[in-house]
Amino acid sequence: MTIEVWQGDITELTVDVIVNAANESLLGGGGVDGAIHRAAGPQLLEECRRLPEIRPGVRCPTGEVRATAAYALRAGHVFHSVGPVWRGGGNNEEVLLANCYWQSLKLAERMQLHSIAFPAISCGVYGYPLQQAARVAVAEASAWQRTHAIPKRIILVAYSDASCKAYQRALQNSRPA
Ligand code: APR
Repeated sequence: MTIEVWQGDITELTVDVIVNAANESLLGGGGVDGAIHRAAGPQLLEECRRLPEIRPGVRCPTGEVRATAAYALRAGHVFHSVGPVWRGGGNNEEVLLANCYWQSLKLAERMQLHSIAFPAISCGVYGYPLQQAARVAVAEASAWQRTHAIPKRIILVAYSDASCKAYQRALQNSRPA
């Protein structure tokens, strides 16, 4: 089992599932959400619209994940996960972000998927500090791999040099001395 850092556009990856940093409506947006919808094509939004609202305007609460097909993307599936908006750290942001990773890994295991790629959830529009988010991502992926066999490949996708350095630093710090 590996945790890899890869720098580039997540929509280019040929993996079993790519995770989208979505919002609770699941009706698309900018950032990686926009890129995934553009690359997948309009059927992705059509499927998202068909997902049930658990309350008006909310198809996926923060910290949870919903699965759809991937359509024109090379990946097999898209997991839409909603990260927390950073409000200074006192609003359960770390637990909610950790849940995005853990729930996505649990769903991948349940669907018997072997490779999963995550963007830096919440680190763009939602304002989560990069190094803190990278530490959460690495901690959840490492904890998962200590007790589970699949997914075998966990890829942390960096879209900038800064993100790449943050992930690599988090990985270095997580390795036993
Ligand atoms: N591939 C990989 N990573 C990407 C890509 C891409 N094509 N495009 C952007 N990113 C990175 C950003 O650089 C950032 O590090 O994804 C990370 C998450 O940023 P956002 O996409 O802004 O997501 P987030 O901060 O979670 O905010 C979610 O933004 O797009 C809307 O609908 C979305 O309302 C939701 C909010």
